[in-house]
Amino acid sequence: MNPDASLPAPPAHPGTLPSRLPNVGTTIFTVMSALAAEKNAVNLGQGFPDFDCDPRIVEAVSHAMREGWNQYPPMAGVPKLRQAIAAKIAALYGRDYDADSEITVTAGATQALLTAILCAVHPGDEVIVLEPCYDSYLPAIELAGGKAVPVALEAPDFRIPFDRLAAAITPRTRLLLINTPHNPTGTIWREDDMRQLAELLAGTDILLLSDEVYEHMVYDGQLHQSVSRHPELARRSFVVSSFGKTYHVTGWKVGYVAAPAALMAEFRKVHQFNVFTVNTPMQHGLADYMADPQPYVQLAGFYQAKRDAFRAGLSDTRFQLLPADGTYFQCVDYTAISDMKEADFAMWLTSEIGVAAIPVSAFYTGGRESGLVRFCFAKRDETLALALERLRRL
Ligand SMILES: Cc1ncc(COP(=O)(O)O)c(C=O)c1O
Repeated sequence: MNPDASLPAPPAHPGTLPSRLPNVGTTIFTVMSALAAEKNAVNLGQGFPDFDCDPRIVEAVSHAMREGWNQYPPMAGVPKLRQAIAAKIAALYGRDYDADSEITVTAGATQALLTAILCAVHPGDEVIVLEPCYDSYLPAIELAGGKAVPVALEAPDFRIPFDRLAAAITPRTRLLLINTPHNPTGTIWREDDMRQLAELLAGTDILLLSDEVYEHMVYDGQLHQSVSRHPELARRSFVVSSFGKTYHVTGWKVGYVAAPAALMAEFRKVHQFNVFTVNTPMQHGLADYMADPQPYVQLAGFYQAKRDAFRAGLSDTRFQLLPADGTYFQCVDYTAISDMKEADFAMWLTSEIGVAAIPVSAFYTGGRESGLVRFCFAKRDETLALALERLRRL
């Protein structure tokens, strides 16, 4: 007799299941990085530095480990790190978040974004997303059962289309996702944009999720317009940032979210069953390192020098430069060189010229074609010089 006869019959196809994210396949970042490695191309595709972080931050984390900070920290994060984050936001943007109830440390900005979306969006809710946008936004909305409502920003200046934004709002709109400084375009929100946004949202109960991971990379003396500077916006906002970007440690995956206490209480309900908490020694090390504001205060100058050198080099090529007010990305128009589609041009550039870039079309649902690719200039000066030498051949 079959001993398992009392068990339910196994499913017809035990190795398969209906996908929660049926439209997600291999991303262009993976494809381009693999191609760059295969062709030995200079990889200006994926957005991460090819230089090391400050040894003092590594020492601060090692010190924390040696001191025995190796067990679970509090769910919302190590208190001294939350206090350092609150103090930084108060000093830079003039808003006081309570470190106990309004700041949570996350496993990178990606988890902060997912958790904020999961706690704010109910099945059937609409979420307005400005495209082009970072690739985690749409799958996160889908996982929450929400409906993404894309509003396109348009080349070459990618300014906020407030008329189309207003037209996209319906009684089902629950959340608006914004990103400044903006990946991939390098544009930033200005004070007047924030004022118009506050006017648009006044009288609605729409929440705002503001992705500010490039907050310390704003150039030419301009100010980062954190939504936390604007009381009418801050009271309805989750504000997200990432230590990975600020301290050249993208692999550490530590970020944070700031939000008013009532929103944060809901965020933490999801966070505690999502990751529960974030690794302890990193948090202690980051808190100690944050005691000196210079690394983040000087970051804009550091990257501005790279941006200027890269733009000066590109001005000798047939690429047309788009403005780059923030982030470590430079978008270029290649239509004077080729009429290929963006993905084809990026692959050709990688294979034939030896420089990897990302097509901007990859950041739009439906892949809008504008003849643009994105380069990342968070690279050593030698790396950028080699890339420029190759691009000049075009
Ligand atoms: C706009 C934007 N948001 C979020 C992230 C993710 O940040 P983290 O690595 O801290 O998860 C990135 C990383 O590239 C990004 O460009």
